[in-house]
Amino acid sequence: MLEKTLGLRGWSSLLKQKMPQEETSPPEARPVAGRLVMPKLHFHAHDIGKVLKKHTLDAHLRLHKGYVDKTRELVQGTEYADMTLDEVLKKLKDEKSELNTNASQAWSHAYYWLSISPPGIGTAPVGPLLEAVSKTFGSVDKCRNELIKAGQGIVGSGWIWAVKNKDKPEVIVCKDAATPYREEGLVPLLCIDVWEHAYYLDYTADRDAYLDAAVKDLINWKFADRFWMTQ
Ligand SMILES: [Fe+2]
Repeated sequence: MLEKTLGLRGWSSLLKQKMPQEETSPPEARPVAGRLVMPKLHFHAHDIGKVLKKHTLDAHLRLHKGYVDKTRELVQGTEYADMTLDEVLKKLKDEKSELNTNASQAWSHAYYWLSISPPGIGTAPVGPLLEAVSKTFGSVDKCRNELIKAGQGIVGSGWIWAVKNKDKPEVIVCKDAATPYREEGLVPLLCIDVWEHAYYLDYTADRDAYLDAAVKDLINWKFADRFWMTQ
């Protein structure tokens, strides 16, 4: 099932339709993790200011870049050098290593930026995903509540994910730097970062307020709709 996912190259080509990639590596390094670059955001910072302020976004992007840079550094001269980020994660699975942590965080953050949009854009799934969400959870609101509840239950840091599991939508928690690739067959749809750095500057310790705002106002179901349909 995992082989059916788009992979970094796949969804970055989706990305390119709206957001050109920023090239950060010299051409000779590209076959390595040269595919691993920072995506340009598909929104302006001020457009999500109602939920997250620019200082949070800037600090968060710096952290993301740190994961990208570290991953690129760690794969140099290793068997992972010619792999895509997806391939690296599948190969490492649950291995506790610096490379797995950094590669996972780079991957999850890229998905996070895809998963959010300015309030009012893509706030609910449409078509087949809407149908599946309604059937599985009872309604989109109930699905939102599941996402919030999942985030509230995280002790420490982690990620909330909406995934496709055997043709059904499901909400899962990935603790710390874990990704949905921990379990075969899960197709990632969207995620919310529940690490403290994602909200502390704006919400201090009120993680519930961040979760509520992120799930209700920030989630971009448009990408989830696409992933649901194409995988
Ligand atoms: Fe983060």
